[in-house]
Amino acid sequence: MKVLGVESSCDETGVALVETRADASPRLLAQALHSQVDMHAAYGGVVPELASRDHIRRVVPLTRQVLQAAGCEAGEVDLVAYTRGPGLAGALLVGAGFAVALGAALGRPTLGVHHLEGHLLSPFLADAASSGRPEFPFVALLVSGGHTQLMRVDGVGRYTLLGETIDDAAGEAFDKSAKLLGLGYPGGPALARLAESGDPSAFKLPRPLLNSGNLDFSFSGLKTAVMTQARKLGSSMADGERADLAASTQAAIVEVLVTKSLRAVAQSGLRRLVVAGGVGANRRLREQLDAGARERGLTVHYPPLHLCTDNGAMIALAGAMRVQAGLASGTRDGGFDVKPRWPLDAIA
Ligand code: KG4
Ligand code: ZN
Repeated sequence: MKVLGVESSCDETGVALVETRADASPRLLAQALHSQVDMHAAYGGVVPELASRDHIRRVVPLTRQVLQAAGCEAGEVDLVAYTRGPGLAGALLVGAGFAVALGAALGRPTLGVHHLEGHLLSPFLADAASSGRPEFPFVALLVSGGHTQLMRVDGVGRYTLLGETIDDAAGEAFDKSAKLLGLGYPGGPALARLAESGDPSAFKLPRPLLNSGNLDFSFSGLKTAVMTQARKLGSSMADGERADLAASTQAAIVEVLVTKSLRAVAQSGLRRLVVAGGVGANRRLREQLDAGARERGLTVHYPPLHLCTDNGAMIALAGAMRVQAGLASGTRDGGFDVKPRWPLDAIA
């Protein structure tokens, strides 16, 4: 089965073609991505209206590009999957409208999938050379710009929420701290880069809810502490101090994520951890999770680096795996809706 995936929930337009076969692992045939990051950078964050307009401009050329790269005719597509939510309503409507129209033109079903399910299943596109493909059941750490959750995953569509952030997401903590340090948008990768040359123990920053006994997270207090330090240093902040504050911030976020993830795995009695979402690209997070897992004899799986942030491949994959699992078959009625707010455990 060949599934075309369309992602447009935020500021990346992603299209990809994934092939599944009953006797083999899913295979990414081709993918194309256009990031709007530069367009939104001038505003310090995503402007929803601009995002929607740009998705409209990009989605058709990207789809052509994917089909051409895969050497595939549009008529060979068996299913068109699109991100139904959560995300920006206008942006979601562009991808959904396009996918449903394409499905109708091709006489193929369309299927709206959950963006976080895409992230969660994306490590199934990993190859043996990287962290390998996971097997169910596992604990998943979902860390993106909008979400920070620990999930128990027993199979496709079988998700139990173990803990989540009560305020900011981990990616938001990276982005907001980066802004306070005068770094661009989105600040996560920039802060991580700057942190490479800083001392992670230079500033004492809080580790919110580290010993709360549950698996919830909180990052808003950390952001306030970073703001206080940045104000103290003021405009005369030396480059070394900026790098130290970046490194200390990253260390605080990563320590909380690692501690709670390993605790979640221990409490669940499982042996596997899957990390997904944009923050999953963070090197310190990967190093510390790998070290903690080695000590405990656990395995950690990551999506390939290029599939950590939003992309169409994870949406195609989630659609394909839902169909394979017998949970969905798509619709042909031409109707669709999007769900800007949509908890993942609601689809379990
Ligand atoms: O999953 P994603 O692409 O989009 C959402 O669904 O939110 O995640 C984007 C988030 C942003 O907050 C970005 O700053 C963060 O992931 N991010 C990183 C890194 N790469 C992306 N944060 C820390 N270190 C990184 N290397
Ligand atoms: Zn995402």
